Amino acid sequence: MEKIIDETKQGQPLVLDQKKENQRKLFIESYGCQMNFSDSEIVASILAKEGFNTTQRLEDADLVLVNTCSIREKAEQTVRKRLEKYNAVKKINPKMKVGVLGCMAERLKSKFLEEEKIVDLVVGPDAYKDLPNLIEEVDAGRNAVNVILSKEETYGDISPVRLQSNGVSAFVSITRGCDNMCTFCVVPFTRGRERSRDPQSILEEIDDLVAQNFKEITLLGQNVDSYLWYGGGLKKDFDKASEFQKATAVNFAKLLDMVAAKHPKLRLRFTTSNPQDMTLDVIHVMAKHKNICKYIHLPIQSGSDRILKEMNRLHTRQEYFELIDNIKNIIPECAISQDIITGFPTETEEDHQDTLSLMEYVKYDYGFMFAYSERPGTLAERKMDDDIPEEVKKRRLSEIIEVQRKHSEYRHRAFIGQTLEVLIEKESKKSNAHWSGRTTQNTVAVFPKEEYKIGDFVMVRIDECTSATLLGEAIGYSDNN
Ligand code: 5AD
Ligand code: SF4
Repeated sequence: MEKIIDETKQGQPLVLDQKKENQRKLFIESYGCQMNFSDSEIVASILAKEGFNTTQRLEDADLVLVNTCSIREKAEQTVRKRLEKYNAVKKINPKMKVGVLGCMAERLKSKFLEEEKIVDLVVGPDAYKDLPNLIEEVDAGRNAVNVILSKEETYGDISPVRLQSNGVSAFVSITRGCDNMCTFCVVPFTRGRERSRDPQSILEEIDDLVAQNFKEITLLGQNVDSYLWYGGGLKKDFDKASEFQKATAVNFAKLLDMVAAKHPKLRLRFTTSNPQDMTLDVIHVMAKHKNICKYIHLPIQSGSDRILKEMNRLHTRQEYFELIDNIKNIIPECAISQDIITGFPTETEEDHQDTLSLMEYVKYDYGFMFAYSERPGTLAERKMDDDIPEEVKKRRLSEIIEVQRKHSEYRHRAFIGQTLEVLIEKESKKSNAHWSGRTTQNTVAVFPKEEYKIGDFVMVRIDECTSATLLGEAIGYSDNN
């Protein structure tokens, strides 16, 4: 087997095993959550071994893969639009093959082939290791589909190719799937049951990233707080594990503690947390380690107890407040962000007011807000009418967005006059004379470049802010360099 060196990745030579004589070009793009972006790096790694090099130019591709999202109808429409674009390109390059990966592939299965004639290949999130065989099928002129969900697959043995990386921050996935069954959510159907990755393979991937000079890692999972390793197997089968397995199990707090202690200069983040699964232990581990960022993404979805119940969120408004109080007591500087859905079936004005008052209590640093989108196959779709008119959903959404804008500004103003550590990630979009980076609270800070460079930890004095960004000036390196 011949070895080739690919020097396109941020000056970090990547040794790729080459099986096939002729290099083929892979164009891969991702929509949706960070998990999808992370999965695409796994796919690129699997296909590198099959002789595929990635290209940024769609027109040059032998194989186009699109990693898709099903979370809202709009996300699916975006992908369908992209398929139209591929169709136009295929007219010029008829040999180009098109594959669909991710949640839409899992949801629609072989129906995709009927609905979108351009598609040759449909592969669900747990079947990427089968891609070499599936591509052989496609090469032989047949369509190929694998959407089998797995109880074990975590891709822990695959070292991802870092696509379009800034060389500073990277994602490391730790769990796959979700067992929570929120009634609005398609994820349990598209990504299957919850399973955790072997901590040893997580630590090895992080060691490797540190050796490549990465400065910040985000541990990824649909529900990171529910991470549980007891030698493999599904989270739901933990009760059946042996006494030894139970005694040596690693939960999320332990994993976080292990990674933070091993690499004290590496910034650590994690997402997403689920209120019902987040433990006090996790908050204490965050407080104990300086290198764990003081920021938690903690979706609430609704401030109304009645709607939370309809959504099958297994906590109350009061329990959420208690969690917020605990976080703020243990880590006063901790930033918190939300996901909120407006216009869930049966949501009344009173329920909506409950959401607004909950926001007033928490005063989130920022948030991600969405109008409810009915998803086929979910419990809400089967049991409830999507009965809130679009204009009401939109009006409630804009009210929530406005409250959030006010709170983001309030939180950002509090940073003015402080000097904060910022990790430089990239050039500011608005000015090539400025760097852009993030504080431990995940707030974006922009400041003049001076002698600093990407990957430096610098101390920035904050002078001004907008509702989205802090503006300031660097006063020197931080002691984390
Ligand atoms: N409609 C609107 N938003 C949704 N989300 C999940 N499912 C839906 C849906 N059917 C939102 C939730 C979740 C985020 C990732 O997307 O707020 O936390
Ligand atoms: Fe989209 Fe959710 Fe699937 Fe991610 S897990 S791709 S957000 S549906």
